[in-house]
Amino acid sequence: MTMSSFPEEPTIVDANGPGEQGRRRYNPPEEEHPPTPPAGTENQGFGVGVGLGEEEGLCKVLGRERGRRTVLRERVKLASQYHFYMETQTALAIPDEDNTMVVYSSTQYPEAVQSVIARCLGIPFSNVLVITRRVGGGFGGKSFRSHTVATAAALCAFKLGRPVRMYLNRSTDMIMIGGRHPIKAYYSVGFKSDGRITALHLDILINAGISPDMSPLMPEYIMSGLKKYNWGALSFDIKVCKTNNTSKSAMRAPGDTQGSFVAEAIIEHVATALSLDANSVRQRNFHTYDSLVMFYPESAGEASTYTLHSIFDKLLTTSSYRHRAESIKQFNNCNKWRKRGISCVPLILKVAPRPAPGRVSVLNDGSIVVEVGGVEIGQGLWTKVQQMTVFALGQLWPDGCEFLLDRMRVLQADTLNLIQGGLTAGSTSSESSCAATLEACNLLVGRLKPVMEKLKQQSGGGVSWDALIAQAVKDNVNLSSSAYWVPGQESSTYLNYGAGVSEVEIDLLTGTITSLRSDIVYDCGKSLNPAVDLCQIEGSFIQGIGFFINEEHETNVDGLVVSDSTWVYKIPSVDTIPKQFNAEVLNTGFHKNRVLSSKACGEPALVLASSVHCAVREAIRAARKEFGSLQLTFQLNVPAPMTLVKEMCGLDIVDKYLMWQVGSSSLKRD
Ligand code: MTE
Repeated sequence: MTMSSFPEEPTIVDANGPGEQGRRRYNPPEEEHPPTPPAGTENQGFGVGVGLGEEEGLCKVLGRERGRRTVLRERVKLASQYHFYMETQTALAIPDEDNTMVVYSSTQYPEAVQSVIARCLGIPFSNVLVITRRVGGGFGGKSFRSHTVATAAALCAFKLGRPVRMYLNRSTDMIMIGGRHPIKAYYSVGFKSDGRITALHLDILINAGISPDMSPLMPEYIMSGLKKYNWGALSFDIKVCKTNNTSKSAMRAPGDTQGSFVAEAIIEHVATALSLDANSVRQRNFHTYDSLVMFYPESAGEASTYTLHSIFDKLLTTSSYRHRAESIKQFNNCNKWRKRGISCVPLILKVAPRPAPGRVSVLNDGSIVVEVGGVEIGQGLWTKVQQMTVFALGQLWPDGCEFLLDRMRVLQADTLNLIQGGLTAGSTSSESSCAATLEACNLLVGRLKPVMEKLKQQSGGGVSWDALIAQAVKDNVNLSSSAYWVPGQESSTYLNYGAGVSEVEIDLLTGTITSLRSDIVYDCGKSLNPAVDLCQIEGSFIQGIGFFINEEHETNVDGLVVSDSTWVYKIPSVDTIPKQFNAEVLNTGFHKNRVLSSKACGEPALVLASSVHCAVREAIRAARKEFGSLQLTFQLNVPAPMTLVKEMCGLDIVDKYLMWQVGSSSLKRD
């Protein structure tokens, strides 16, 4: 395990050319060096980093084209975000007979809560039953952080021998739960005069807080989000830093959000340096199918499933991107104190379905209970599981059996009744639970088919569900079936594609940002439920605007959280939603390795909200052009609230503005 968290001088592939001459020590200018932290803060790693292997291979084979190249270096910073679920962390622990404990926990991971409690109390896992009926929003914050509250409640209940209920008030929750990982990324990018990027080196510092939590996975997730463009030669050094902050944890699209944003910041930097339209630089660096396979070797899938190019083109047309970009230029020429910007951002996000259990049981009266590993956290998992059950049992009634919807109940997660429930996260729990349900239903259908045939022969006509079940009960058919769905090798990871265009207006005097319009196209495969998926896409996009523009989960130098209430921390409101918001679920037909051809949708669209941030940057650039006082190349960190927008436009200090207007020398004479 590495305990030094800061990079030594890494060797990068320079854009000057191949061979030894092209390799040199990377010595960033003084201010670019990652700052040395005070002792006891950012000085210990969790042992993750220094390349992930495959990219080192890429350095050897790519980035060897001839032509004029330029190298740019910069730093980008992204802050933290709090989950702000409606229901804060809570648990009710009830001691039971024979040294056992029943715990109702608001968690995305009942199985892990069970094991942590059992180990804390020193009793077998089988003595702890964790029940999760549903969760009042989790967004990743109840994946690994709910254990603390549930275990504390269980310990008290164990010691006192009586039920204990525990819940966090909002302020305590905001202080304890940690939120998204802040990062600092230092990059050196080499590119040609046409905007083609040939080499990229990154040094990334991830603030993990006081304990590892899921932070060791962050480098992989960040790089996965960043690899959406073909960088040519790519090398990186990522350090997961132990700090004096509360432990950071999973939050909707962890890592992908940060990595994808860093990618956009680099593209915009290159475009400005070359005075090119950022959109054309984006497209120039899109993956071909071959480079996609090289950057995502296990997940790229078949060439026909790589839909990003067509999505991007479609979106540019449906959103009238080019026409609007022209109108924005005119608007900006005619308005001094208000500026507009527009930006179109692509999305590639890798997901990895996990194994999941499912059980379907039919009771003697024909009512059905379904149990699955996934937890309902507001993402519509139960709705999809119900639909899947009806779809699968419908094989017995080719004309459909929607009437079964009213006879069905999805049960709460229960760690002793259905084991190996796993973690609800990563946007694939709904489809995994559906896949397990489908397998369990198929077993039932296999058992019920002979009974059906027998009844059909006897009656010579149709058979009702009640008659079928009554006969199956008489015939001693096992009416409960279980399955444990394990994704095959080809289903173990896959890529999701989408794109978003956003247009914003900023008020230079106040820094206010107005989201005028956003258009999203997202490839859902064959959506399991387009209504649910559309809401997920829209919801995650708005949560993303919160992250990129407004929300900052701030910590002071002592590591104490200062954004600990709704007075100081503002989540998106109705004003944050773009005035015109068009989200489209793209139905891309048959995908043989997906669950009924569907694709994930819970997290990816959050990443597309970076289009709003990029549009704000465009608008600020127009303001800087207007006053001719500041450089057009600049970094805009995340979040970018109104105070920062005003500052970046150079209008936060009146004196500064007057200096430009009348000339600094005359002002000094006065
Ligand atoms: N939607 C609501 N309403 N509430 C939530 O907590 N969590 C998101 C997303 N959508 C969340 C949500 C996160 S972080 C994930 S990973 C996915 O739902 C989980 O959905 P899945 O069942 O498809 O994996």
